[in-house]
Amino acid sequence: MAENLQVQLARQPEGVPRATDFQVTKAARPSAGAGQFLIRNMYLSLDPYQRGAIAGRHMGHTRLNQGDVIYGRCLGEVIESKHPDYKVGEIVVSESGWQQYFVSSGSAHDEVRKVKPEAPLSAYLGALGMPGLTAWAGVEKLAQPTLGDTFVVSSAAGPVGGTAGQLAKAKGCRVVGIAGGDEKCKTVIETYGFDDCINYKAKDWAERLKAACPNGINHYFDNVGGPMLDTLLTQMALYGKVIMCGLASLYNRTSDGEFAGNNMGPVVGKRAQLLGLVVYDYYDKFPEFQKIGARLMKQGKLAIHEDRVDGLENAPTHFVKLASGLNNGKALVAIAPEKV
Ligand SMILES: NC(=O)c1ccc[n+]([C@@H]2O[C@H](COP(=O)([O-])OP(=O)(O)OC[C@H]3O[C@@H](n4cnc5c(N)ncnc54)[C@H](OP(=O)(O)O)[C@@H]3O)[C@@H](O)[C@H]2O)c1
Repeated sequence: MAENLQVQLARQPEGVPRATDFQVTKAARPSAGAGQFLIRNMYLSLDPYQRGAIAGRHMGHTRLNQGDVIYGRCLGEVIESKHPDYKVGEIVVSESGWQQYFVSSGSAHDEVRKVKPEAPLSAYLGALGMPGLTAWAGVEKLAQPTLGDTFVVSSAAGPVGGTAGQLAKAKGCRVVGIAGGDEKCKTVIETYGFDDCINYKAKDWAERLKAACPNGINHYFDNVGGPMLDTLLTQMALYGKVIMCGLASLYNRTSDGEFAGNNMGPVVGKRAQLLGLVVYDYYDKFPEFQKIGARLMKQGKLAIHEDRVDGLENAPTHFVKLASGLNNGKALVAIAPEKV
């Protein structure tokens, strides 16, 4: 019998997830029925939102039960089709979940998007995928930085932060990253080409950030929230913008009581704007953004850095690494070869 390797929930994680919260199982490989098509997945995207989605805390995702396939987005190839709009050989990204094969009818729920590759395929889950669209929307639609502005982004080694900084750099900003460790800062400066990167695990990181942004921060692309946001708010230039994108410092919390909330005093003093960002608002802009992103890649202005592991069975440990903040670059699982 042909098999379909899946990763399912074994138990709800408490705090930082553990590999034993997941179970790797083999189901029967599905085939396409009338009006359906079968996708062979090549890459699985691991994303911070999946922690909240498993627990039912992320918009549009109900809490998973034991035995449910874990939520996730994959890039794959259509290998069987009884659907008029999808042809064998087409490359698609879909909400397939953590599994090797996925049958879809192309419904809105499955969020199937065709990819016309102009860049490495895996990039369509990172810098040219949902994380890249998030960065693009934050920079182009919300921050709208101009030449000479100082642009700071946290979680700078990841696909959202790394792409946001490179897009701001392409617009002539001084770009400073914040990341958790010297290795990550090396990626941010040497691979992404930021002007500087501050390791916030160093004691004097706030002073170093101030020195790196002598005129104050015009745009802070916030992926972390929590106490780091308090520090950043005090270093904003007058009338600066804070793009509220992620709250990574709070994702593994076990109760809402753990973090008392931010000090909003400096928002008033700096006349700052806080702008919330939800990528789903920009999904209709995917084709426009992907064209721009692919062009920047060809021009050498948008580099990617991946933290990838081979084999779906290794997805749980790789996810634990991401949820622990230890990934350096886009967290990705290579499920199967691109060509068979
Ligand atoms: N608003 C939206 O629509 C939207 C869409 C997509 C993504 N996002 C958000 O954008 C952010 C970046 O996403 P990404 O895919 O590029 O992820 P990522 O940066 O590759 O990974 C998350 C990073 O968060 C940082 N982090 C800070 N505090 C942490 C903590 N207590 N525990 C774990 N990690 C911590 C770690 O980097 P450091 O070591 O550098 O701190 C970690 O590597 C996330 O917050 C994500 O939820 C928002």
